[in-house]
Amino acid sequence: MTLKVAVIGASGYTGGELLRILATHREVEVVAATSREYSGKPLSSVHLNLRGYYTNLKFSELNIEKITSSAELVFLSVPASVSVGIIGRILEGGLRVIDLSPDFRLKNPSLYEEWYGFKHPLVDLLSKSVYGLPELHRDEIRNADIVACPGCNSTAAILALAPVVKNKLIDLEHIAIDVKVGSSEAGREPSHGTHHPERANVMRPYEAEGHRHVAEVEQELSLLVGRDIRVAMVPHAVGSIRGALATCHVWLIDNIGGNEIWKAYAQMYGKEPFIRIVRTGPVKYPDPKYTIGSNYCDVGFAVEESRRRAALFGAIDNLIKGAAGQAVQCMNIMYGFDERTGLEAPPLSPA
Ligand SMILES: NC(=O)c1ccc[n+]([C@@H]2O[C@H](COP(=O)([O-])OP(=O)(O)OC[C@H]3O[C@@H](n4cnc5c(N)ncnc54)[C@H](OP(=O)(O)O)[C@@H]3O)[C@@H](O)[C@H]2O)c1
Repeated sequence: MTLKVAVIGASGYTGGELLRILATHREVEVVAATSREYSGKPLSSVHLNLRGYYTNLKFSELNIEKITSSAELVFLSVPASVSVGIIGRILEGGLRVIDLSPDFRLKNPSLYEEWYGFKHPLVDLLSKSVYGLPELHRDEIRNADIVACPGCNSTAAILALAPVVKNKLIDLEHIAIDVKVGSSEAGREPSHGTHHPERANVMRPYEAEGHRHVAEVEQELSLLVGRDIRVAMVPHAVGSIRGALATCHVWLIDNIGGNEIWKAYAQMYGKEPFIRIVRTGPVKYPDPKYTIGSNYCDVGFAVEESRRRAALFGAIDNLIKGAAGQAVQCMNIMYGFDERTGLEAPPLSPA
């Protein structure tokens, strides 16, 4: 018996990546893929890479009753503040949900007013949702009815920082995160800033005062050490289509050097199926280029012991480990499938 899933927001970039990964996932059948704009059209009319797959499945209108009667699990690949409007009826229908949007990532409801500008209408569900980062929350994900997948910038930053924060190897008062990210992060809908002539070849800081992902990075790092952590974080739009690189500047506490950082990474990530610690080779620090098309997060670090500082790196494909791949990894955990199922393909090269 295959697991029947629906993708709401299937015409977008993360929805398209979900369809691509699920097309060859041996445990899953996609029974519905919604798009208001493309309803009635074949999936390949939008996702040209999917020509020849899903030959009978067309985009459909968002009809929750139809979805609850045909699917067991729903992926929500929709913009912020859409999931809160539809998740109630999906859960009432007895389905489980993996939400790629930010609507259920933050535990403290007041943070939604502060960072997203809306009053969260389903506060009771926030405490039930699980932050969908398997490396930190695998056991909780297993039994969750709502999994809230992290943002892409947050995934790269949290995975780079988690081992040294958890082991308190750094000055926890001073963490500065610089993220570079490709244009697909902004989704399919073009805007002035994302239209090709405006976006190509840029190296542009954006949302430098209060990027929304700061809230979830602080939440997760604080949970790791049981005290409030604050970070400075500035994302930069760069010219590539895919990829996110977090460079995290930190300052070492006494007696801590490269060996201790290495041990902390190896201890936390040694058995993780989708984390690679990068230290050697002609490119000895993580670069998203070598993760493209895969669910890997490459982590690594550089240490200047004489200056008591280190730079920690996390590199991902924003649409895969930063979105659709991570969501499928969570699904695999929730349903007891091998965690790598559907995600076995190595990265592209050259990409
Ligand atoms: N792009 C990334 O790298 C990335 C990474 C991590 C997380 N995310 C998050 O994932 C979510 C989707 O991102 P994306 O990049 O895939 O966006 P996108 O390309 O803009 O796609 C959005 C999808 O949602 C549908 N949609 C829009 N408004 C809707 C509504 N009111 N009701 C139902 N469906 C609606 C759209 O189709 P129709 O308008 O035709 O219905 C489309 O299929 C966002 O919350 C984003 O923050 C994105």
